[in-house]
Amino acid sequence: MKKYEDVSLKAYNTFGIDVKCRLLYKISSEHQLQKVLSETDGPYFILGGGSNLLLSSDQELTILKNEIDGIIIDSETAESVILKVGGGVNWHSLVLWAVEHDYGGLENLSLIPGTVGASPIQNIGAYGVELDQIFLKLDAIRIENGKKTTFLKEDCHFGYRDSVFKKELKGQYFITYVYFQLTKSNHKINISYAPLAARFNDIPTIKAISDAVIEIRQSKLPDPAKLGNSGSFFKNPIISIEEFEALKHKYPLIPSYPVNQHNIKVPAGWLIEKAGWKGRRIGDAGSYEKQALVLVNHGNASGSEIWQFAQMIIKDVELKFGITLSPEVNIV
Ligand code: EPU
Repeated sequence: MKKYEDVSLKAYNTFGIDVKCRLLYKISSEHQLQKVLSETDGPYFILGGGSNLLLSSDQELTILKNEIDGIIIDSETAESVILKVGGGVNWHSLVLWAVEHDYGGLENLSLIPGTVGASPIQNIGAYGVELDQIFLKLDAIRIENGKKTTFLKEDCHFGYRDSVFKKELKGQYFITYVYFQLTKSNHKINISYAPLAARFNDIPTIKAISDAVIEIRQSKLPDPAKLGNSGSFFKNPIISIEEFEALKHKYPLIPSYPVNQHNIKVPAGWLIEKAGWKGRRIGDAGSYEKQALVLVNHGNASGSEIWQFAQMIIKDVELKFGITLSPEVNIV
């Protein structure tokens, strides 16, 4: 375990926000975590890759950075394999490892920033696949008492970019290991996302899908190493069919995705672009020129400047479309 005092968090969040924290521990095993919890006082904040996070001020909380490593085969049959993966493992390196071994299920989720331990918290998803489709269970340690618990899939209450760890159990568990069930044969190829389907004439391999997803992401989304960002800043809003029909009447080309009989999801990126915010910039806070949903730090924006910019977008979209956007990123 490594302990740091009064450190800048700039290198620990992909927005590149320069705030200070009082105390930070890098945790690389369950045992280390239990030791820190028993010897220190909270309140604590659990940090993964810092890729879904907007730091709005200096942090008085004690930060526990998840660096639990390791990808191991927990069990396997002729058809499938169960991987046990440390919560601190970089998400994309897990995807590349799986693709290299021809284990199917993670390929559509290539190049998502962040760590394995953070992936169930917001049920990460992209290009037609969400984490809950390959998630089996997870091990976590309760912050309050250091006790280890297993959460099965049904215990996690997964939804669109949502889980019990964002709601009732927010901040209460440190996710140490995540178990994924992947295919070894008869891969469930998913090219339902139109720009992905457009690239293939035949059924692609999982490697080809991963390569295509990487290319699509690189063409649309900014690289946090070059331009600070946290991916999609807002969730795509879910509205009623009636609200949608009224919008469609006014904007016949509005894109949408069905949710259920009563609701429909509309892309926040489209609403933000139509409201005139795509590529706009105030100081160093801005909306990305190629994807309006991604807010960016052009250099030295503070967390509160980015948040003010986000609130201007929320107000304007509300005024123009009657839809209230809610942040997807965690604001602390
Ligand atoms: N659009 C615009 N203008 C924009 C951005 C998008 O008109 O500036 C339109 C696009 O033309 C398209 C629609 O909005 O018709 C959807 O855009 P896109 O396919 O880029 O996806 P998204 O809905 O904006 C979601 C996820 C992404 C994920 C992609 C692909 C959320 C909040 N975001 O974005 O996830 O990669 O689908 O599956 O659900 C993330 O969560 O950080 C993230 C990047």
